[in-house]
Amino acid sequence: MKNVGIIGLGRLGTALAVSLGRFGYTIRAVTRDAQPQTRTIGDLTVSVLPLERVVPESDALFIATPDGIIAQIAESLMNFDLNTKAVLHLSGSHSSSMLASLKERGACIGSLHPLQSFASVEQAISNLPGSYFTFEGDESLSGWVSSLVEKFGGILKILPSADSKTIYHAGAVIVSNYMVALAEMGVRCLRHSGFSEQEAQEALLPLMRGTLNNISRLPLGKALTGPISRGDIGVVASHLEVLARDLPDVKRPYCALAPVLADIARKEGKLSIEKYRELKRIIKG
Ligand SMILES: NC(=O)c1ccc[n+]([C@@H]2O[C@H](COP(=O)([O-])OP(=O)(O)OC[C@H]3O[C@@H](n4cnc5c(N)ncnc54)[C@H](OP(=O)(O)O)[C@@H]3O)[C@@H](O)[C@H]2O)c1
Repeated sequence: MKNVGIIGLGRLGTALAVSLGRFGYTIRAVTRDAQPQTRTIGDLTVSVLPLERVVPESDALFIATPDGIIAQIAESLMNFDLNTKAVLHLSGSHSSSMLASLKERGACIGSLHPLQSFASVEQAISNLPGSYFTFEGDESLSGWVSSLVEKFGGILKILPSADSKTIYHAGAVIVSNYMVALAEMGVRCLRHSGFSEQEAQEALLPLMRGTLNNISRLPLGKALTGPISRGDIGVVASHLEVLARDLPDVKRPYCALAPVLADIARKEGKLSIEKYRELKRIIKG
C-alpha cells in the first residue's frame, strides 16, 4: 500500500506526510478548504486535492483531523467504494469503532496512535522516529502497520481490544499533560519564594530532566527521592501548612498525589506502616 491519503494537514498530518514521503510513499492530502494546490513541506511536495480525488487514488487513508471531526469524515467516506482500502485515524482516546460503518463500504479499519506529544509540525517530524505506536483494529492491517512503524524505527504495541483505548489514553495524558500541570505548580511555588516566572521555569527544568533521567535508568520505586521516600512527615506537614496559606489550588493536587508516592515508598520498603498512616492522616487534614 504505497499510495497514502492524509485527511487534515495539521501538526501530526503534516509530519506524517513529510515522513511517509521520505520513506517513498506517494502522498495526497485533503485540507479543510479543499482547494487543489501543491504544498511544499520541507523537502516534500504534497498534492492537496478534494476528497473525491484522494480516496480513489489511495490504498490507505489517515484521518488526521481533530478527534471531534473524525465521525464527520467517516460519514463523508461512506460515499466512496473503499474495497481493499485501509482507513485509520490517529486518535489516542477513540477506538476504530468510530470507523465501523466504513466496513460496509469494504474498508479495513484501525486506529494508530503515536504515543508522543506534538506541539508543532517540526517537533512532530523529529519526535516520531523511535516512538511507541499503538494499533487497534482489523487484524488484516497489522502487517502493514507493523512495517510502517518499523520505518519510523518505532515500537508497535497492538492493543487487545477497542475497549482498552480510553484507559490507555488516560495513562498517556497523565504523563504528558499532567507533567505540564506539575511544572506550573512548581513555578507557582517558586514565584512565591522570589523567582520571576522565567527564572522559575528555567530553574525547574534541570530538576525535571534529572528526574526523567532517574526514571529512565531505574525502576520507579528507586527513582523516587524526597520527603515521602525518606519518611520525613514533618517536612510534608510544613509544605501543607504554607500551601494552605499561600497556594490552596496547589495544595489540593499535592495532597491528591501524595498517596501515590506513599504507595511507591511503602512498596519499596522506605516508609514504615506508622509513617504511611500518619501521612494519610495529615493529607486528609
Ligand atoms: N498533537 C499531538 O500531540 C497528537 C499526538 C498523538 C495523536 N494525535 C492525534 O492526531 C490527530 C490530529 O491531531 P493534531 O494535533 O495534528 O491536530 P491539529 O494540529 O489541530 O490538526 C488538525 C488538522 O485537521 C484539519 N481539519 C479540520 N477539519 C477538517 C476537515 N473537515 N477536512 C480536512 N482537514 C480538516 C485542520 O485544519 P484547520 O487548521 O483549517 O482547522 C488541521 O489542519 C488527532 O486525532 C489527535 O488526537 C495528536
